Amino acid sequence: MTAAPGPGAPKLGVPKLGVYIHWPYCARICPYCDFNVVKARGGDEPAALARAIVADLEAQAALTGPRELVSVFFGGGTPSLMDPAWASEILAAARRLWTPASDLEVTLEANPTDAEAARFADFAAAGVDRLSLGLQALDDAALGFLGRNHDAATGVRAARAAVAAFPRLSLDLIYARPGQTPAAWRDELSRALDLGPEHVSPYQLTIEPGTAFDRAVRRGAFTPPDPDTGAALFETTQAVLEAAGFDAYEVSNHARGAAARSRHNLVYWQGLDYVGAGPGAHGRLTLAGARQATYAAPKVADYLARVGETGLGFETRETLSAREAAEERLLAGLRLTEGLPMAELAALEVAPERVSALVELGLLADDPGRLRATAAGRLVLDRLTAELAA
Ligand SMILES: C[S@@+](CC[C@H](N)C(=O)[O-])C[C@H]1O[C@@H](n2cnc3c(N)ncnc32)[C@H](O)[C@@H]1O
Ligand code: SF4
Repeated sequence: MTAAPGPGAPKLGVPKLGVYIHWPYCARICPYCDFNVVKARGGDEPAALARAIVADLEAQAALTGPRELVSVFFGGGTPSLMDPAWASEILAAARRLWTPASDLEVTLEANPTDAEAARFADFAAAGVDRLSLGLQALDDAALGFLGRNHDAATGVRAARAAVAAFPRLSLDLIYARPGQTPAAWRDELSRALDLGPEHVSPYQLTIEPGTAFDRAVRRGAFTPPDPDTGAALFETTQAVLEAAGFDAYEVSNHARGAAARSRHNLVYWQGLDYVGAGPGAHGRLTLAGARQATYAAPKVADYLARVGETGLGFETRETLSAREAAEERLLAGLRLTEGLPMAELAALEVAPERVSALVELGLLADDPGRLRATAAGRLVLDRLTAELAA
């Protein structure tokens, strides 16, 4: 006889759900960053935003109905600047509104300053079990160049505090900085691994339009590495992480074993549903069989006004056509080393000859029933997705 599931147990067939919370405030705006951020000014607004996020989650839960909650991700901006009591309230709301999975993952993005590290224990007590620490570099000159408000020693202290406070640690690093050599990067990355993360996200420095770095490059203040140096630095990244036992399960994400993968990012890359709450957050919800995209207003004041008027935080909700939804699946699924089942791309009607041609070119793996990019293919994902979705 099989025991009936208890009241908190997810019911069979209840779809999985991730929750993304956007906390836009930062102590300082970094010159390379084009995320939806605003300089923290204090006052009553952050408390009002925390309350609005709870109200938004309640309103969106009325739309989604019962779901199995697999991940909550506090991203930003700098959510480690948030009062841990608010994180606790937002998390309690998410747990009450949906059914937490037995392995629910709760991630907080943090900047590695001493003030934030001093609050890690409070965030852990609030229910955060995974810290994504924006270490970025372990070289003081590089951190100065990146406009960060911490030096390398502070970053190391914060990583050690994180290992003590949370069961899971991920490190963000930015490489392909001007003048960086593969040998120096190899040494820096190895020192970052010595800090004991189970997950590493090394990002190549991207010059985003409209940022201070974009203006600096235009006026000739610095030149980013040329493509050959960028490729050499990428190869170094892969080699160092592979040798240390990290699996490159996604273009820029490496985990020490399957359990260390980011369940939250897998929600995106596997095309599962997620609620977005907070200024500028977007979501993807399958409602009555149709894939819907939600977008919240980027400005804090507009988001607060929207929640005040309607309860819901998003200001637009559009239904994706079957083709648009499949294009999104393709873009996200090919980022994963394991790729995605062809069956999920039926709406694209990809001609078999097109797939064969890309296999011939060594960009797709010969894997019947699945679409999977090779290592070479993952370097030209834009080209691959454009050719498959043409
Ligand atoms: C939304 S940011 C938030 C993290 C946190 N506020 C911090 O700065 O440590 C997430 C990550 O994106 C990466 N990132 C942001 N802008 C980037 C850029 N232009 N090029 C490369 N990586 C970037 C950084 O590694 C950063 O840690
Ligand atoms: S990189 Fe992080 S701290 Fe810097 S502006 Fe972007 S979100 Fe804020």
